[in-house]
Amino acid sequence: MTSTGTLSFVHEFAPATAADQPILLLLHGTGGDERDLLPIGRTLAPSAALLSPRGRVLEGGAPRFFRRLAEGVFDLEDLAVRTEELADFVTRAAAHYGFNPARVIAVGYSNGANIAASVLLRRPTVLMAAMLFRPMVPFEPALTPDLQHVRVFIASGRRDPIVPPGQPERLRQLLASAGAAVTIHWHAGGHELGDDEVQAARHWLDAASASFAPVQA
Ligand code: MLT
Repeated sequence: MTSTGTLSFVHEFAPATAADQPILLLLHGTGGDERDLLPIGRTLAPSAALLSPRGRVLEGGAPRFFRRLAEGVFDLEDLAVRTEELADFVTRAAAHYGFNPARVIAVGYSNGANIAASVLLRRPTVLMAAMLFRPMVPFEPALTPDLQHVRVFIASGRRDPIVPPGQPERLRQLLASAGAAVTIHWHAGGHELGDDEVQAARHWLDAASASFAPVQA
């Protein structure tokens, strides 16, 4: 059920349905909302908890997670503030719903992938892993964060008209130089998400799960 309660984002939360499950932080694309990625979340991890906020910025009525000045040109001041806001929301949601804040995996599409990448670079302790569909480089960090023990799956489209071809590779370099283990999956199509890459992401998550740190209450 969609709620806001005492938390800063309108969001959906579904508790885990089995023990020792991660929490998937679902981050929609421009014009989406908190319900968009729930089916993908269920496909990726059927028993996981799902936390799905709605972006708080409106662009002509379309929800986003941060402002942009033009297509692919980000408002970096707003991005910094919104990244902190989202990271704080995750921490508060963990206390509110009683989940383990060390077990959060972001699943972001497009604008949602970009803010997830920004959380990795700016608040590197918030996410245990991230699955980024169609990300760009959100910003070039002045300091290299410590992302050792973080695993990242990137899915990019070879014919994506929105994401320039060098962006996923530059993001991979940034994350890998911070110590993250990064996998890139290249999809034959464009910006739209294909079933094949959701399945590839699911297989990646199944394999990565074995290497996640043991659950601690
Ligand atoms: C963004 O603005 O985050 C990217 O250009 C992707 C999009 O939302 O269109």
